[in-house]
Amino acid sequence: MTASDLAAQTAARATPATVPGPASGPAVRIAAVGDIHMGEESRGILRPAYETLADCADVLLLAGDLTRHGTADEAQVVADEIAGLPVPVVAVLGNHDHHGDCPEEIAAILTAGGATVLEGTSAVVQAGPHRLGIAGTKGFGGGFAGRCGSDFGEAEMKSFIRYSRGLADGLRGALAEVADCDVGWRSPISRRSPTPWPASPWRSTRFWAATCSPRPSTTPAPTWRCTGTPTRARSGG
Ligand SMILES: [Fe+2]
Repeated sequence: MTASDLAAQTAARATPATVPGPASGPAVRIAAVGDIHMGEESRGILRPAYETLADCADVLLLAGDLTRHGTADEAQVVADEIAGLPVPVVAVLGNHDHHGDCPEEIAAILTAGGATVLEGTSAVVQAGPHRLGIAGTKGFGGGFAGRCGSDFGEAEMKSFIRYSRGLADGLRGALAEVADCDVGWRSPISRRSPTPWPASPWRSTRFWAATCSPRPSTTPAPTWRCTGTPTRARSGG
């Protein structure tokens, strides 16, 4: 989806996700978007919608693939879009953001724009009246426990799976960090879906998430919600 497509969709249905609050309390309002794939010609497209966020959301989560080819110029477009927003912005990168082989620079530019960029790390932000704990990772392919590849055989396969497990372990650690925080609400964020979609055939999930990915939706704490975006198994992602 291009940024202009997203802008059109946003105008049509600007309804952020809402995490229900406790029975006696208010909700946390989460605006979450990924795959915006911004380039130079996208400049300014999303800004009008972002500037209204405070009216309808307490936090903005950016779930990766924020640029097209992972260049610094594209990252600067994203940073300019989110600069000075009235709500906290928390982001993870996606595979497109790694394509230019400078993910650290991409993350630094987004950070300078005001985003908190997570990779196997966590953050606690003030989301309206709530303290919201967020754990994030880019994620990778490999599938889910029971439906995944293994680090056996060719060096390339072992490298693939071990990288994926490393990211999954990072998310697991970040989730544990946030679980120990004194926060009212918690949310994971990932470029790749942290949980399989029940209706999806397993063959299409091998390039989702990460091998042995933790499954936040099944953790005991009732306040976990998934905000990651499933990735269809197609070239480019
Ligand atoms: Fe994408």
